[in-house]
Amino acid sequence: MAAQVRLGIVGAGYMGMEHAHGFRLLPDVQIAAVCDRDAAAAERLAAATGHQPRICTRWEELVTQPDLDGIIITVPNFLHHPVAEAALKAGKHVLLEKPLATTVEGAHAVLKAAETSGRQVQIGLVYRYSHLYNKMAEILADGQFGPVTMLWCKEFRASFPPNPWFYSQEASGGSLVEKNCHHFDLFNWFAGSRPKKVFAMGGQHVIRQGQPTEVGWWYVQQDGAEPLTVTDSQVIDNAWVTVEYENDARANLGLCLYLRPNNLAEEGLEIGLIGETGAQMVAYANKKIGLSGGPFGDLRYIVPDRDTFSPWHIGGQRERTEFLETCRTGKKPWADLQIAYDSLLVALAAERSIKEERVVYLSEVSGHA
Ligand SMILES: NC(=O)c1ccc[n+]([C@@H]2O[C@H](COP(=O)([O-])OP(=O)(O)OC[C@H]3O[C@@H](n4cnc5c(N)ncnc54)[C@H](O)[C@@H]3O)[C@@H](O)[C@H]2O)c1
Repeated sequence: MAAQVRLGIVGAGYMGMEHAHGFRLLPDVQIAAVCDRDAAAAERLAAATGHQPRICTRWEELVTQPDLDGIIITVPNFLHHPVAEAALKAGKHVLLEKPLATTVEGAHAVLKAAETSGRQVQIGLVYRYSHLYNKMAEILADGQFGPVTMLWCKEFRASFPPNPWFYSQEASGGSLVEKNCHHFDLFNWFAGSRPKKVFAMGGQHVIRQGQPTEVGWWYVQQDGAEPLTVTDSQVIDNAWVTVEYENDARANLGLCLYLRPNNLAEEGLEIGLIGETGAQMVAYANKKIGLSGGPFGDLRYIVPDRDTFSPWHIGGQRERTEFLETCRTGKKPWADLQIAYDSLLVALAAERSIKEERVVYLSEVSGHA
């Protein structure tokens, strides 16, 4: 029998609950403590774990509790860096929801704290654990694409959830940091090269600053969430982002955050790529892969096994299983700090490119030439 792992969760919102439900299904783990500044939310999370954890409302109190092996951080993005840094300093392994931080300074602070403490940080870049995207990586590794030269992502969806922090540039880091660090990470993974520079254009078409707009309509419809009207959204609701890699690959991401009620088109979220051999591969709606051209010939579809649990966050259960192993052995996780840092740099460069209306080199954002 594996040694039991004792965990604490900070943040009892949507993602905190998702992790509570997921860990409850896994053996040899106990959620021993939970925290949210909203005591009622913390109580709900405690009940969802099924483990009768201790409850607190201050994260500073939770991360230092001596019997915890690991901390799961599911608070709004601007809190990722201070909570992760404190947890690492207290000697805990960390499962930190994406993005790594909202600023490059915050990211550097977490990297430094991890290095000093010798503890591991796993980032919730959950696609890294999904059967679907791992199948794409496996097909690429066969070599029949040659170098990947073009990549794209269509992230056309409904608005963010009806929680005010998503609409604050400072709290969320901006839409491209909050949402698309996932997709920039897929680009980085499949391009097999380091991102070099970014050009982006974006703005507000529907959810506009100074105009009262009801947001979160999909969550209201799906989960019965309370509707929210925002009047001062600072974040973009649409963008086109182009990323160029050191190996001359180019990637393009389109973001729309105002489809109603959501993306109901058959292809859904679309992630595609082309290789030098003329082959093309496209993942549709987190469900199936279309493979055609080059050595593959006519279009065929591959449907990888569905990931267990987490229909919306494919790979979530494998992500949690790896975190338990990291807590037991200290093993470096697959979704580590480096990949989180690289995806954050692309997102920060894209946010800056929109603001400054110019091409932004990642070296400008990282401060490393
Ligand atoms: N991996 C994924 O695919 C995925 C999906 C959704 C969200 N997320 C990430 O998870 C994180 C949380 O998102 P969410 O949708 O659950 O947000 P949420 O707003 O539903 O939950 C955040 C929770 O944090 C609590 N909180 C805020 N400030 C706090 C503080 N100072 N101390 C303690 N608790 C505090 C809030 O009360 C709330 O309960 C975000 O970083 C988000 O980017 C990741």
